[in-house]
Amino acid sequence: ETGVVTMDPGFMNTAACDSEITYIDGDAGILRYRGYPIEQLAAKSSFLEVAYLLIHGALPTATELDSFVERVNRHTLVHEDFRTFMGTFPRTGHPMAVMSSAVNALSTFYPESLDPFDPETIELATVLILAKTRTITSYLHRSAVGEPLLYPDYSRGYVEDFLRMTFAVPYQQYDPDPTTVAALDQLLILHADHEQNCSTATVRMVGSSHANLYASIAAGINALSGPLHGGANEAVLKMLTEIKAGGGDAREFMTRVKNKEQGVRLMGFGHRVYKNYDPRAAIVKKSADAVLQSLGSEHDDLLDLAMSLEEIALNDEYFIERKLYPNVDFYTGLIYKAMGFSDQMFTPLFALGRMPGWIAQWREMMSDPQTKIGRPRQVYTGAVERDYLPVESR
Ligand code: SDX
Repeated sequence: ETGVVTMDPGFMNTAACDSEITYIDGDAGILRYRGYPIEQLAAKSSFLEVAYLLIHGALPTATELDSFVERVNRHTLVHEDFRTFMGTFPRTGHPMAVMSSAVNALSTFYPESLDPFDPETIELATVLILAKTRTITSYLHRSAVGEPLLYPDYSRGYVEDFLRMTFAVPYQQYDPDPTTVAALDQLLILHADHEQNCSTATVRMVGSSHANLYASIAAGINALSGPLHGGANEAVLKMLTEIKAGGGDAREFMTRVKNKEQGVRLMGFGHRVYKNYDPRAAIVKKSADAVLQSLGSEHDDLLDLAMSLEEIALNDEYFIERKLYPNVDFYTGLIYKAMGFSDQMFTPLFALGRMPGWIAQWREMMSDPQTKIGRPRQVYTGAVERDYLPVESR
């Protein structure tokens, strides 16, 4: 009655697949987007240039980049009815729930961008999502704090105007600090893609039914919201704050982790693929101290606590034998917080950074003639055949 089922090749295009986009060597801690090492892109590129690279497979020429940036900028304004729609959610609702609803709703405002096979339409949907999710993410913060939703300023860069739309007070000049712009641009690059993680596999699975790009990405946002995945950056801040409130004893906390106390996990540590230091975490950690200083946040004792936890873990058999190292979520929340974002905004910022990767992966899957609808099989372990019993005989 039960036995091992074989996977048909079509299935391989949604759950486990061939891809030319991102390469990870989990044991060596290597991450490359289209062959370029993450360390080089984080140091030298920009978020929209990396988005172009992930989506189109090559670094753009100056002309290609200018036209791409101009096209994204031009679509940053959302329909006025969409602004009204964004305002109907409870201000206390988690922004990830609002973000996935808002991205899904985009398909009703821009029906001309839905056909998943027309190259022109795919390009339009690509640009619309990159542009509108920047506006949506700023609105998530504005709605939560009860401030008016601002309009975009096309003369400013992607990250600079995102920060202005998020933090500016109406009718007051607001020029985001260049250090903050550069730090956030780098964080978005570090989150841009990560091969077949939970949320990207979700985007591929939903898209494999020929669902449009908005529906597929909205599903990915929901997968990312879980605390074992993108929600971990918010969970790290909660963990650090609780340790500090309990006296700040890092060793005592790590003992509780090793004792596997209910609900006690070292959030921001461990990874399904990296069994070495996550290269993204190394980049964030290196800049964290400098960025926090430049953001004027008093020398953050939560950063010191995070570094103490890491120091203990890197020298403790329990973590070493389980190959538990910091992942991308361990330090990022501290920087987002210093920038002025609330903890609940950390995962939407992860999603904003991941948009190019989700778009690129969906396009790669949709353009592959081998792709079939995702249909995982199972090993049946339930009851063997039996006859129906009338209720009086049960
Ligand atoms: C992201 O996949 C991606 O690429 C994701 C991502 C991306 O860019 O898309 O990189 C982003 O999601 C990063 C991960 C963020 N999540 C967290 O930080 C949450 C905390 N980490 C975990 O819960 C865990 O490490 C996972 C879910 C990330 C990975 O889990 P695994 O590889 O399935 O490990 P496991 O659950 O099989 O655990 C193996 C052992 C167990 O101990 P034993 O049963 O062998 O005694 O390691 C222990 C686990 O208890 N363990 C941890 C731990 N993670 C694993 N113990 C304490 N703290 C942890 N964080």
